[in-house]
Amino acid sequence: MRVLVTGGAGYVGSHAAKQLTKSGHQVVILDNLAEGHRPAAGSTPFVSASLLDRERVVAAMSEHKIEAVMHFAAFAYVGVSVKDPAIYYQNNIVGSLALLDAMRGAGIDRIVFSSSCATYGIPERVPITEDHPQHPISPYGFTKLVIEHALADYSHAYGMGYAALRYFNASGAAADGTIGEDHDPETHLIPLLLQVALGQRESVDVFGTDYPTPDGTCIRDYIHVDDLATAHVAALEKLKPGMALKLNLGTGHGASVEEVVTLCREVTGHAIPVRKTARREGDPPALVADPSAAKRELGWQARYSIREIVESAWKWHKAHPKGYND
Ligand SMILES: NC(=O)c1ccc[n+]([C@@H]2O[C@H](COP(=O)([O-])OP(=O)(O)OC[C@H]3O[C@@H](n4cnc5c(N)ncnc54)[C@H](O)[C@@H]3O)[C@@H](O)[C@H]2O)c1
Repeated sequence: MRVLVTGGAGYVGSHAAKQLTKSGHQVVILDNLAEGHRPAAGSTPFVSASLLDRERVVAAMSEHKIEAVMHFAAFAYVGVSVKDPAIYYQNNIVGSLALLDAMRGAGIDRIVFSSSCATYGIPERVPITEDHPQHPISPYGFTKLVIEHALADYSHAYGMGYAALRYFNASGAAADGTIGEDHDPETHLIPLLLQVALGQRESVDVFGTDYPTPDGTCIRDYIHVDDLATAHVAALEKLKPGMALKLNLGTGHGASVEEVVTLCREVTGHAIPVRKTARREGDPPALVADPSAAKRELGWQARYSIREIVESAWKWHKAHPKGYND
């Protein structure tokens, strides 16, 4: 299929674009580089444009005879979305609606959308199944939920086929070490810990050690970015016009902050000092996916363990200590 990958110069999108190409699809990346990195797109055809630039998006769809879209482009900092929700509403909601309208105009009826476990808010139960109530607690999570609703309505009314893939904690880097995570500012636990091992930070804050978890620190479900990429390709290949898939993408296994710190110390051989601080508002004790629906619907399940995630991330960060600006 000829696939437009929005946000394909970003972390998850670049890994998915690579996987799509490997699976024989023809990929065109559209990214405005607000956050991503041009080298992450490699030699894949690249359109430098915003989702909000309707003319350029429509032109890209028609020029490349696009048949399906993978939509990663969004802002994704939960904290920033609380302080400045306007840019999140504009980029993530208005931008996505502009993309959907361009798709309708071009007769493209398949889309795989990056949703998030942030749509669930504070979970009532873990592991989280897809029918868990969605009550996001941040503007970021809400923008993702709004687009899930839009997709459901567009599917019902216009026959659009969609997969809303709710990722848990994307982490790790491509096995060949060519692409990886490079966010600025970095907020994700594993790259932060590895930056300490590289001597780029003194320590990492551990927010809360008194949670009702075995070691008192928060538990999250870390999913390898290449596992996410494989799930995206499987979802795309399964989609038919009018089909609606809403799937969690996680491993089903949680790792605590303390466990991740220990693993990073083992893998890097560095002491990695941490500072134990107070809980952060809005952090639930545990977020773990029940990924059985993705297994049932896509025949997909995560292959990589948390150790392999840390090892692949370490390989990337060691080889690219300044990320793509090396
Ligand atoms: N990283 C995670 O753990 C995680 C978890 C759940 C969901 N997600 C979602 O997955 C997607 C990808 O996340 P990521 O970590 O790769 O983020 P990222 O910031 O690395 O990538 C997003 C890309 O989208 C581009 N972009 C943003 N707005 C754009 C616009 N208006 N027009 C064109 N391009 C635009 C950015 O330049 C960037 O390259 C996002 O939608 C995010 O919300 C990520």
